[in-house]
Amino acid sequence: MAFIEVIGGRHLQGEIPIQGSKNAVLPILAASILHNGITRIKNCPKIIDVYHMIKLLESIGCIVTWEQDGLTIDATEMNYSSVDKKYVSSMRSSIILLGALLGRNKNVTISYPGGCAIGARPIDLHLKAIKEMNVQVIHSEDIIFCSTSHLTGAKISLASPSVGATENVILAAVKADGITIIDNAAMEPEITELCLFLVKMGARISGAGSKTIMIEGVKEFRDVEYTLVSDRIVMGTYLAAVAGAGGSVTLRGNCCKENETVINTLRTMGCRIGVGRDYVNICSSQQPRAVPLIETETYPGFPTDMQSQIMSVLTIASGTSLIVENIFESRYKTVKELAKMGADIYVSGKAAQVNGVAALTGCDVRAYDLRGGAGLVIAGLIANGTSRISGIEYIERGYEDISKDLANLGADIRKVESSL
Ligand code: UD1
Repeated sequence: MAFIEVIGGRHLQGEIPIQGSKNAVLPILAASILHNGITRIKNCPKIIDVYHMIKLLESIGCIVTWEQDGLTIDATEMNYSSVDKKYVSSMRSSIILLGALLGRNKNVTISYPGGCAIGARPIDLHLKAIKEMNVQVIHSEDIIFCSTSHLTGAKISLASPSVGATENVILAAVKADGITIIDNAAMEPEITELCLFLVKMGARISGAGSKTIMIEGVKEFRDVEYTLVSDRIVMGTYLAAVAGAGGSVTLRGNCCKENETVINTLRTMGCRIGVGRDYVNICSSQQPRAVPLIETETYPGFPTDMQSQIMSVLTIASGTSLIVENIFESRYKTVKELAKMGADIYVSGKAAQVNGVAALTGCDVRAYDLRGGAGLVIAGLIANGTSRISGIEYIERGYEDISKDLANLGADIRKVESSL
């Protein structure tokens, strides 16, 4: 099994570009099947979740090809409405195909995505909302069958602003008869990105990025070429790496505004950060300061997807920080790995008290989820000595090449292929 080896203690210097956004591209790939034609996505990240989604699209009849600067999806001959269980179980977010398949085919059979490493992740909000659009939903323990004679716009009020449920409703509503209004919609930038893509394809949507989104169904879409925004969580991860390891770095990407909460948190920790339209500079020359309270929230609050990376930095902060994880219930799996490196963290339910220590010591640790794995890489950069991080298949779900990016910034880090 491959692992990442990192020898900590080096300051980071230099400039790197940030890859395209994972959480934006997955619903956009799902959206491509709404159109009986060609979609081109530029700046598409080469990550495992995208490879999974491509397999899924191919399994339902799309022709997908990588070109020099992106991905082309030809959904002209797409004809299946049943999604194979093996793909859904390998990537929980394949559930966003539900809305798009309903829009295209009027019926869908998809297996239940189940829980994952970071929590139970139910889809009750998705199904309740879809039912309100004149869709019959029958579900057993592991299969969901949805069908409709004609998809109908509806006024849908989400009990909580789920990102995936908002995306599924949008994907169905763009092809429904009449108008759909989503109240208490998710406001994450990836929702805005999906809507910008759909509007370019010919959809009629207003209010994306706010709590109320209005969608007027249309009959036909057109071929579209779309350039994906940079990944705000990858940018946030590398900012956190500099905050922990020290140094002076420029990250090029057009997702700085969307990272404001993370940037402000890092400023509180003592980093000097300058923000341009499509770049961010960070300089960290002192021990990070503790942060009294970080609570994960829906956008524009502190993102749950940055919690593990910031926790790694806070392990060596001067003082005690409190983290409260409000979005997912199992997002502290990294804690026991950080403890092996000498971190002092006490977890009670949703809360984690991080008592800063003088230094971490490198050792062998294991990633159990994507962002937790990125957090361990950051801990490895901070620690004295050598760390080996296994479970990197999780990290590769969302990072094109974290070792290469950090090595380009001067870190002593590499991916090691091992036959053991
Ligand atoms: C998306 C992101 C993920 C991010 C999360 C929160 C993608 C591919 N993934 O996940 O990286 O961490 O948003 O910003 O974009 N919930 C229910 N019932 C539902 C749906 C959700 O109870 O029907 C709960 C979930 O269990 C979770 C919370 O609501 O506790 C938020 O989930 P949601 O916003 O749906 O996240 P995802 O779309 O799964």
